[in-house]
Amino acid sequence: MYNNQPSCGSVAASKIFHTSKDPPLFFIMMRFNMKIALLMVTILGFFTIFAWSLCGDRNFKDSTVDMDRNKDFMRSEEIDCFINNDYVIGCRKEGDEVFLPFSFLRKYYEVYGKMVNLDGIERFEWSHNSYNKIYYPKGRYDPRGVFMYFENYNVEMRDRVKYVSATEGVPISTQWGSHGYFYATQIAQFGLSHYSKNLTDPEPIRRIIEDSNKNQAKWVISSESFLERMFDANVSRTVLKFRTGDRISDTLYLKLDHVLHFVMSVNLMLGMNSSLTVVIQNREKGDIYNLHYTSNNISITAQDNNIYYGIGNFQEWKKLTRDLIVDLDKGLSILQEKTKHKRIPRSKLKVTAILLFGYGAIDNLTLSTSEHIENFYNAAEWFVKHQDSKGGWPIPVRRHLASGFSDLKPGWYSSMGQGHALSVLSRAYHHSGGDVKYLNAAIAGLKPFSVPSSKGGVLTSFMNKYSWYEEYPTTPPSFVLNGFIYSLLGLYDLMKIAPRGQADLAEHLFNDGIVSLKHMITLYDMGSVTSYDLRHFTLGIAPNLARWDYHATHINQLLLLGKILNEPLFTQTAERWIGYMNGKRAPHN
Ligand SMILES: *[C@@H]1O[C@H](CO)[C@@H](O)[C@H](O)[C@H]1NC(C)=O
Ligand SMILES: *[C@@H]1O[C@H](CO)[C@@H](O)[C@H](O)[C@H]1NC(C)=O
Ligand SMILES: *[C@@H]1O[C@H](CO)[C@@H](O)[C@H](O)[C@H]1NC(C)=O
Ligand SMILES: *[C@@H]1O[C@H](CO)[C@@H](O)[C@H](O)[C@H]1NC(C)=O
Ligand SMILES: *[C@@H]1O[C@H](CO)[C@@H](O)[C@H](O)[C@H]1NC(C)=O
Repeated sequence: MYNNQPSCGSVAASKIFHTSKDPPLFFIMMRFNMKIALLMVTILGFFTIFAWSLCGDRNFKDSTVDMDRNKDFMRSEEIDCFINNDYVIGCRKEGDEVFLPFSFLRKYYEVYGKMVNLDGIERFEWSHNSYNKIYYPKGRYDPRGVFMYFENYNVEMRDRVKYVSATEGVPISTQWGSHGYFYATQIAQFGLSHYSKNLTDPEPIRRIIEDSNKNQAKWVISSESFLERMFDANVSRTVLKFRTGDRISDTLYLKLDHVLHFVMSVNLMLGMNSSLTVVIQNREKGDIYNLHYTSNNISITAQDNNIYYGIGNFQEWKKLTRDLIVDLDKGLSILQEKTKHKRIPRSKLKVTAILLFGYGAIDNLTLSTSEHIENFYNAAEWFVKHQDSKGGWPIPVRRHLASGFSDLKPGWYSSMGQGHALSVLSRAYHHSGGDVKYLNAAIAGLKPFSVPSSKGGVLTSFMNKYSWYEEYPTTPPSFVLNGFIYSLLGLYDLMKIAPRGQADLAEHLFNDGIVSLKHMITLYDMGSVTSYDLRHFTLGIAPNLARWDYHATHINQLLLLGKILNEPLFTQTAERWIGYMNGKRAPHN
């Protein structure tokens, strides 16, 4: 899987060095501790020798003499640094110490750094990794509870989510195809993050705007339009029915002034070409945006200040739950594609009106701070509705992992998508109080785990011995680590939640996977980083080293599995890998 944080550290660092006004600062010198220098490779060895040769016997002299000399030390002079016998950069010398420009070190060691201002005092903060977090498991892992640390995720705001479909209520990905498609892995992460947030966020605050009962809003009606609160036989209750004239001025209008509640939910039934529109204003600049939810099949379009989401073509009651901030942001990214859109902070927005046009009926129109469970069930329903006959959730785009691997043709399954789906469906089965449609979908979702990747499944084996479930079922196998562990968590969730005897296969697959992981985990240990996959073995090429955010994911996954299984190998390996994030290295001979 791909985490959402870009490796931003280096960008931040380079900015600092290029925006600095003070020329000497451009050269911000990292003071080099001799011990660290000794540990680092040749170039620093060179400086060590250089610096030591300068101070030499001085170290043994009387301290008062040293004090006098300190004045000389403080004078810094420019010198050339000759790097690896190859090229020269500008350095500085101050007494015994040699200072190298951080802009050089940053590239040379791929480290991160930025100037930080703490109450008026500037300091430089160095980070060996790109500021990634380690999440120690909070308590016992419970398949009914928070999924890993996904309460921290906001999947739908990621750039590679094009928008949230208004027909299905799940994200549309552009990760491996720019036109946008349903991506099981991402949909599951969306569901799992909302499920987790439901357990960790404060209780939502809800404002019911219109329910034709206790809450009756003051709609403004033109002479050509009609609005009445009347009984609807299909839902056996009084709802608001409307029909407007054809002109824009016939639109039903409800003035609002909401700054806190940006999640709208409504039960509605819309006729042809009808729409419910939410008007949002940028309080600072005054700009107005119209979010139209329209009864057609056009997924998303935008023009001027109008953003259109098609909610499908239907004439039956439907529940719509929309995060208006997300809908606005995705619309703006389409409107301002060429200019690279700027996100408008939530604090600057307010909902100023709701409009109805065409004909239809609405009920339970509500603005809330969140509707996590609705979002979660939208994901769970998607998995129930879109599972194919082989138990899979096919990914409809081609995927090229790397040269040497066969391309995955549209329709492939991913162990990660499958496994994440099991985590979603297991939770839905639990949360719904045992609705078997979720359990059945989860059990069917196990099928691709027993089918070899060469035959369209996700199963492969390492050296014909250890079973492995492929995130990307390539030929030859790629053995992507994080996707495999996510799939194990899905299997674990299902085997723990399914009634006894119903998901024995999940347990079997899980146990096999754990045996493989125990034998193979250290193959990913590169001594100072981890590898993302095993292409160095299967393709006989250089290892594909994991970015720091993947490295952190590896650690977080192992910490969790180590805790679930009480397995010291996993915990100890994770601890060693945490050391790598702070610059520790495996010992050498
Ligand atoms: C979580 O979901 C329950 C329903 O299962 C709901 O009562 C509760 O308000 C929700 N809490 C949050 C924070 O979403
Ligand atoms: C719906 O809108 C389209 C285009 O705006 C128009 O061609 C069509 O006649 C409309 N249909 C109805 C039933 O109003
Ligand atoms: C819209 O989609 C629905 C369901 O996918 C389909 O039944 C309907 O015919 C579509 N309508 C149009 C106008 O394409
Ligand atoms: C109930 O729904 C059906 C279509 O789903 C519709 O034809 C019918 O008019 C509705 N009845 C009422 C009373 O709204
Ligand atoms: C409005 O909400 C109530 C309470 O949750 C529900 O019983 C009713 O069916 C909803 N209205 C519609 C039209 O679905």
